[in-house]
Amino acid sequence: MENNTIATSSRRAHCLVLAFPAQGHINPMIQFSKLLVHEGVKVTLCTTRSFINKLQNLPSSMSLESISDGFDNGFEEAGSPKTYVEKFLQVGPQTLVELLENLSQLGNPVDCIIYDSFMPWVLDIAKKNGIFGASYLTQNMSVNSIYYHVQLDKIKVPISDNSEDEILLPAMPKLQKGDLPSFFFSYEEEPTQLKLLVDQFSNIDKAHWILCNSIYELDKEISEWTTKIWPKFKTIGPNIPSMILDSRIKNDQDYDIAQFKTENCIDWLDNKPKWSVIYVSFGSMVPLNEEQMEEIAYGLRDSDHYFLWVVRASEKNKLPKDFAKKSEKGLIVKWCAQLKVLRHEAIACFVTHCGWNSTLETLSIGVPTITMPQWSDQATNAKYIVDVWKVGIRAPFHDDEKKKIVKRDALKKCIVEMVDGEKGNEIRENAIQLKKLILEAASVGGSSHKNILEFVKSLQGSTC
Ligand code: UDX
Repeated sequence: MENNTIATSSRRAHCLVLAFPAQGHINPMIQFSKLLVHEGVKVTLCTTRSFINKLQNLPSSMSLESISDGFDNGFEEAGSPKTYVEKFLQVGPQTLVELLENLSQLGNPVDCIIYDSFMPWVLDIAKKNGIFGASYLTQNMSVNSIYYHVQLDKIKVPISDNSEDEILLPAMPKLQKGDLPSFFFSYEEEPTQLKLLVDQFSNIDKAHWILCNSIYELDKEISEWTTKIWPKFKTIGPNIPSMILDSRIKNDQDYDIAQFKTENCIDWLDNKPKWSVIYVSFGSMVPLNEEQMEEIAYGLRDSDHYFLWVVRASEKNKLPKDFAKKSEKGLIVKWCAQLKVLRHEAIACFVTHCGWNSTLETLSIGVPTITMPQWSDQATNAKYIVDVWKVGIRAPFHDDEKKKIVKRDALKKCIVEMVDGEKGNEIRENAIQLKKLILEAASVGGSSHKNILEFVKSLQGSTC
C-alpha cells in the first residue's frame, strides 16, 4: 500500500480503531469512536475474533472487523497470559496486514489506526503501510508516567523491600510503595503483565498521535509535563457515554456492550431515599478472596445503610452462606447498568476498586467514593482520588499490609464517615466541583473537544 491520498480527495477520513480484548479497554475506545463518527470520521472498530463475539449491542454507526490473537475459540484456551501474549504477537500482525489489504481492495482504505497502547507493534504495521498510527492510552496519566519511568529504567523492578521508600517522579505527588501499580509487587507471578504495560512506551514517541482517555485540567501539572516530553500527546476524555456529559451524541445510552447480563435494580433504587444507598462494585476482572468478601459483607451489614453490591457470577460462591437472602437492607446483583446506578439520586457513595473507567464515571457524575484498590493501576488511581482530587476516603488495609484485607470495622467506619459525617459533606462538595470541570472539558469548546477536533482536522489535511 502506498501513502494514502486523503489530502487530495473528498472522501471521509477512515480510522481503524483497534482495541485490546478486555472490557475496560474496548468500552472507552467505542465511546471515543462515537465521538469521531460525530465529527464526520468513518470508523471501523476492530478487536480479536473471540472477544467480539462476547459483546452485545455494539453501535451501528461503525463497521466491525476482527483480527486473530491465535485463540479464536476464546482466550481461555491460552492457559496463561504469557502464552496468550506470545501467540498474539505471532498471529496478530499478519492478520492485521491482511485486514488492511482487504479493506483497501474493497475501496475502503484505512488512513489511521488508533490502537490500544498495549499493542505497540501496530505502529510498525501502520508505518510500513503508509498510514497514520495513533496510540490510545486507556489509563490515568500518572499511571502512564510510572510505567514510562520503568521503561526508561528510572524505576527498578522489583523495588526495594524497604517500605519507607518514597518514589519521586516529575509532576506527581510523592508516592509510597502502596500507591504503585500491583505488578511491581507481583512481578514474579505476573511478569507478562508488567512487560505488557512497560512496553506500551517502547516506541510511543514515534506515534503520529498519543491520545489519552483523561482530562487536561484533572491534573494540569502532569498534563503539561507529558505534553513537553511527547508533543503529540492529547487528552481526549472522558470517553464515557455522552448522556453523562453534554448529550452531544443523540441516543448515546449507558454501556450495553458488556459480556455480562445486566440485572435491573433501578426499581429497587427508586424506593430508597435520596443519598441513602452504598453502591459497591469491583469492575469486570478483579477476583476478591473469600476473607475479603466476608469482611465487605459484614461491613455493609454493620453500617446499617442500604447497599447495592455487584457480585459477578464467578464470585457468588465466595459470599457468606445465605448472606444475600438474609440482608434486609441490601440487594446483590451479578451486573448492573452502572451509569444509571451512579446517576440515581438514592446513591450516597461508591465503594470501588478504582478501575480507570469506574473512576472517570464516578468523577464525571460527581459521586464520592470509598477506595478499595485491588490490582493493576487501581492503587495509583486511589491515591489521586483521595489525596489529589479529594473526592474519596481510603478504606485502610488491616495492619498486616501483606494480606491486603480491609476489615469490616474499617469499611463500616468509612461508610459512616462518608454518609453521616462532616468529611462526607466536604468530599461531596469537591466531587461536584470536579464534575463541573470535567463537563466543561468534554463539552463543545472544552479542552478534550478541541483536541478531538484538532486530531480529526489533521487527518483530513495531510498525508502520512
Ligand atoms: C480493567 C482493570 O481492572 C482496571 O484497573 C483498569 O483501569 C481498566 O481495565 P475493570 O476491572 O473492568 O477494568 O474496571 P473499570 O475500568 O472500572 O471498568 C468497569 C466497567 O464496567 C465500567 O465502565 C463500569 O461502568 C462497567 N460496569 C461495572 C457495569 O456496567 N456494570 C457493573 O455492574 C459493573
